[in-house]
Amino acid sequence: MKNILVTQNLCKNFKKQKANNNISISIMENSVYGLLGPNGAGKSTLLKTLTGMITPTSGEIYFNGRPWSRNDLLSIGALIESPPIYENLTAHENLKVRTLLYGLPDSRIAEVLKVVDLKNTGKKRTGHFSMGMKQRLGIAMALLNNPKLLILDEPTNGLDPIGIGELRELIRSLPQQGITVILSSHILSEVEQIADHIGIIANGRLWYEDKIDAANDLEALFMDVVRKAGEFNA
Ligand SMILES: Nc1ncnc2c1ncn2[C@@H]1O[C@H](COP(=O)(O)OP(=O)(O)OP(=O)(O)O)[C@@H](O)[C@H]1O
Ligand SMILES: [Mg+2]
Repeated sequence: MKNILVTQNLCKNFKKQKANNNISISIMENSVYGLLGPNGAGKSTLLKTLTGMITPTSGEIYFNGRPWSRNDLLSIGALIESPPIYENLTAHENLKVRTLLYGLPDSRIAEVLKVVDLKNTGKKRTGHFSMGMKQRLGIAMALLNNPKLLILDEPTNGLDPIGIGELRELIRSLPQQGITVILSSHILSEVEQIADHIGIIANGRLWYEDKIDAANDLEALFMDVVRKAGEFNA
């Protein structure tokens, strides 16, 4: 089993604040990795660094065994915070903009719309979409370039229970198709059902990384890790 992505001692400072402090994570190919941590822990900062939105202060990132470069973004899809949607365009048109930008075949548009179950939105402008529909479109955008690694920052945000269930099924089906997923979440029960491995971040540091173990109480583990992180920093 090889790792598709590894970070070594990754640091990101915002002025004096260490938003990411010596983070070393390993993400196994064709698995789902759940990144957990309280508000302000540094999850989005880490995911933004992996997608090139933020330049790390120090540390290394390896993608497929080689030092990460911007070129790797061709193999990475991401949905971080709210999806970058043109509200006056339809779902199809939004995706068309991207296929043109990335030189992808038009056929991908119908494929990803099918995957996220947004095929029947026709002429509806995305400005009139519900939050969950926008989120689905964001995931479609992230999948458009057939990424090897899909990075999702709190993907269930704004989704109803049906949408959450469907997204869970979708994410679970991706490793079989050769797509590795890293996602962040606050919802422990969600991550428990979806992830193969978890990492727990608090105060900018990675305190825990392991396989998910159904015999372990994830909530108790999470609380314990966050408490210890708090004591360490006190
Ligand atoms: N651009 C920025 N400038 C200054 N500080 C920032 C910036 N982005 C993030 N931070 C700080 O870095 C810390 C980590 O933020 P981050 O968004 O990574 O947390 P998070 O784990 O994603 O939290 P949440 O669960 O609330 O989304 C926070 O204290 C935040 O205020
Ligand atoms: Mg965040």
